[in-house]
Amino acid sequence: MDPHHSLIALSEAMPKTELHLHIEGTFEPEQMFAIAQRNQVPLQYESMDALKAAYQFTNLQDFLDLYYQGMSVLLHEVDFYDLTMAYLTKVHSENVVHVEIFFDPQAHLSRGVPFDVQIKGIYNALQDAKKKWGMSSKLIMSFLRHLSEDSAFGTLEQATPFLSWIDGVGLDSSELGHPPEKFLRVFEVCKNLGLKVTAHAGEEGPPEYVWQAIEQIGVDRIDHGNRALEDELLIKTLQERQLTLTVCPLSNLKLCVVHDMKDHPITHMLQLGLNATVNSDDPAYFGGYMNDNYASLIRHTGIQKTELQQLAENGINGSWMSKQEKTKHLTALFALFL
Ligand code: HPA
Ligand code: ZN
Repeated sequence: MDPHHSLIALSEAMPKTELHLHIEGTFEPEQMFAIAQRNQVPLQYESMDALKAAYQFTNLQDFLDLYYQGMSVLLHEVDFYDLTMAYLTKVHSENVVHVEIFFDPQAHLSRGVPFDVQIKGIYNALQDAKKKWGMSSKLIMSFLRHLSEDSAFGTLEQATPFLSWIDGVGLDSSELGHPPEKFLRVFEVCKNLGLKVTAHAGEEGPPEYVWQAIEQIGVDRIDHGNRALEDELLIKTLQERQLTLTVCPLSNLKLCVVHDMKDHPITHMLQLGLNATVNSDDPAYFGGYMNDNYASLIRHTGIQKTELQQLAENGINGSWMSKQEKTKHLTALFALFL
């Protein structure tokens, strides 16, 4: 009998939210090869096994290089729909009740795929998941930080006809050398448009980048935030402002942000009173979806039942759902722990 069985079963049963998920990072090799064939686009890898064997990363950039290559077969609205629906179907089976997903429009615009093609496919899948299962969602347009702020402004312009479908903006891609302050003006415009704001910070980048995201950009939450733990004043500030951290355990392991899951800092974050949450980032590349992330924490970190509840609770509270929706999910979560 697996000694972790009952905690894993509990984590699977919890109503969960996903707050840090790149839709292009859910592209499973099987689906990638099928869509490549459908679109008559060549892939650099001969077989799915050869592709999977390449998923050995030593840092964020190693991963990003494959991530941008993989998504290059997405051309048509139906491709974006199928990708998104495959992900939603998967996590619906894992009791994920609400998702807030990133997409990277610039990574597709640069290949000649129009903005409307991308967003219509993704948005229609989100709407269908709502109709089919009552799964709620938010859509976050993410700016690529290795590109210029002008490019981000150009993307925002293309998004203008679809702003009612977009709930927030984010900042992703290569972190080192591309601090949040590079995007100060574009985020200011986004905030004035009523969009929520989040940014990847402190995944590989220093605590200074987390400070910039908080103090200069005024983010609503921080994606990753691991390196905030190196700065005591920053920890205190995150506590005081009750800012949510969208932590991604299997991603951290695969990208060598942590070297062993037993050393993952998420329980320490909770002990410090930080609002850490569990998320899967790019599950097709990092070896697991939401429940795999919980299972790995349970198997390797000695995480306790009360901490599992706290993580799920933080996920609901840190989402951009209405108070009423949060209460509904919190009630269901608490009932499981009575
Ligand atoms: N970090 C930065 N950029 C990304 C990531 C990530 O984990 N996934 C997709 N784009
Ligand atoms: Zn991410």
